[in-house]
Amino acid sequence: MISINQLKDVINEYLLKNQYSSAVKQLNKPIDYTIAQKPKRMRPLLCFMAANLNNNDYLEALPVAAAIEYFHNFTLLHDDIMDNADLRRNKPTAFKQFGLNSAILSGDFMMINAYQYLEELPDAAQLKCFKALNYAAAKVCEGQQLDINFETTTAVSEKKYLEMIAFKTAALIAASLKMGAIVANLHQNDTENLYQFGWQLGIAFQLLDDVLDVYGDTKKFGKKLAGDIVQNKKTYLLIKALELSQPTDKAELLNWFTKSDANEAEKIEAVIKLYNKVNIEAITRQKAKDYTEAAFSYLNNISAKLSGINYIKNYANQLLNRLT
Ligand code: IPE
Ligand code: IPE
Ligand code: MG
Ligand code: MG
Ligand code: MG
Repeated sequence: MISINQLKDVINEYLLKNQYSSAVKQLNKPIDYTIAQKPKRMRPLLCFMAANLNNNDYLEALPVAAAIEYFHNFTLLHDDIMDNADLRRNKPTAFKQFGLNSAILSGDFMMINAYQYLEELPDAAQLKCFKALNYAAAKVCEGQQLDINFETTTAVSEKKYLEMIAFKTAALIAASLKMGAIVANLHQNDTENLYQFGWQLGIAFQLLDDVLDVYGDTKKFGKKLAGDIVQNKKTYLLIKALELSQPTDKAELLNWFTKSDANEAEKIEAVIKLYNKVNIEAITRQKAKDYTEAAFSYLNNISAKLSGINYIKNYANQLLNRLT
């Protein structure tokens, strides 16, 4: 079977053709910059893996895989503006590099490009894929708005947090698998199970993103250390730490997360100390593991060849142990 790296090469080569680029050069610059970065490509990879489950030709899924990756990168351009992030994939974020207006507009253009890729699909798959992407896209907006609302909300429950990350992150990952399944014309039941798998995996993925934000190796992770702490993001780390800390530590945590003008280094150091006291990294990693296991239970319901299912499981386990 083709390796994950080979699959990645296929998607990278296709994306770099940038076939919907504009004659207005300035519009393309942030897009070329973003697409040339060759990050994980997990969503197109999952799309391919779903499309390939019954030994179908994954190449059929190329336009859909490209659509998803363009859409994802569009969300990142806008997310970095909303999160005031200056580093992504070890490079200045698009809005830092090209300015706010360029990042907004080129982000919009990438989103439109995503839909243009879907125009290439055969009729039988096209409308279904449009619907799947539209549903996910609306969820991403809802999740992103909740994420912002929570910056200024102190009492965010675990339930609310899990809903927020499901919307902002899991919905698109689930849609990636679903769209791969649609293109390969998989049975409805298999498509639904792949979708549910992606939803649970997406929650695990965002839990780990939250862990890596604080405990990752900045050079490998490629984002600024503890940006979530600086921005008062309500992550699982914070919500659990508030639950597990002694009253005085809890009060101190709450105090840090209501400040917007704190000294960054001081705040990060103090918060990490409080996180460590209640072992928050291990607890959050375990939670991500639980969601990955829950995700796997959906794969067991799929009537595809074991080799295809194991390929997906193997990749999901890699994501669980990722550093980037
Ligand atoms: C980042 O997604 C945004 C989140 C949903 C956490 P990725 O971690 O997939 O970003 P890239 O595309 O690999 O850089
Ligand atoms: C991002 O969540 C979700 C979307 C981009 C929709 P984050 O804000 O945690 O992602 P990163 O950490 O900036 O990649
Ligand atoms: Mg962000
Ligand atoms: Mg964000
Ligand atoms: Mg993050």
